[in-house]
Amino acid sequence: MAIQFARAFGADVTAFSTSADKEEEARALGAHHFVNSRESKALNKVAGTLDFILSTINADQDWGVYLQALRPTGTLCFVGVPPSAVSFQVFPLISGLRTISGSPIGSPHQLREMIDVAARHGVKAQTESFPMAKANEAIEKVKRNKVRYRAVLTN
Ligand SMILES: NC(=O)c1ccc[n+]([C@@H]2O[C@H](COP(=O)([O-])OP(=O)(O)OC[C@H]3O[C@@H](n4cnc5c(N)ncnc54)[C@H](OP(=O)(O)O)[C@@H]3O)[C@@H](O)[C@H]2O)c1
Repeated sequence: MAIQFARAFGADVTAFSTSADKEEEARALGAHHFVNSRESKALNKVAGTLDFILSTINADQDWGVYLQALRPTGTLCFVGVPPSAVSFQVFPLISGLRTISGSPIGSPHQLREMIDVAARHGVKAQTESFPMAKANEAIEKVKRNKVRYRAVLTN
C-alpha cells in the first residue's frame, strides 16, 4: 500500500524487501527501484539518497544503516513495531539534521482523504481469499510470509 501511495504522491519510490522474489511485484505496484535488504552492499549503495523512509518492518534491524540511507533533513518514520528497543548512533542525526518519527493509523478525516486518493489513483489492497473452512491454512501461509499481501477469509 505504501508503495502505491508514494507513487500516487509523485515520489521516486524505492522498495526494500528481504525477499528478492518481491522485486517484480514491487515494480508492478509502482516502485522505481528495489533494494534487497538482506544484502548489506545494496543498502550501502543507497546511502544518503532517500528523503523519507517508511518502515513497516516488524523485526529487529541495524537501524543505523537506514538512518545512513537518508539524505540530509530526511525522516525515518516507523509504522511497523520491532520487538526490541531501537538503537542507533546520534551523530548521523545531528550532522544530517535527520529525524526519526512514528505514526499510528489516521483520523477518520485522514482516512476519508486516503480513500479519496486511492479511488483517484487506483490504489488497491492486494489480497488472497480463503474460504472460512481453510482459515488454519491461511494462518499457516501468513506465518510463512507467503501471503501476497493480505489473507481475506470469506464465507
Ligand atoms: N502504526 C500503526 O498504526 C500500525 C497499525 C497496524 C500494524 N502496525 C504494525 O505494523 C507492522 C507490520 O504489520 P503488517 O501486518 O503490515 O505485517 P506484514 O504484512 O507481515 O509486513 C511486515 C513487513 O516487515 C518486513 N519484514 C519481515 N521480517 C523482516 C526482517 N527480518 N527483516 C526486514 N524486514 C522484514 C516484511 O518485508 P519483506 O517480507 O518484504 O522483507 C514486511 O514489509 C507490525 O509490527 C504491526 O504491529 C502498526
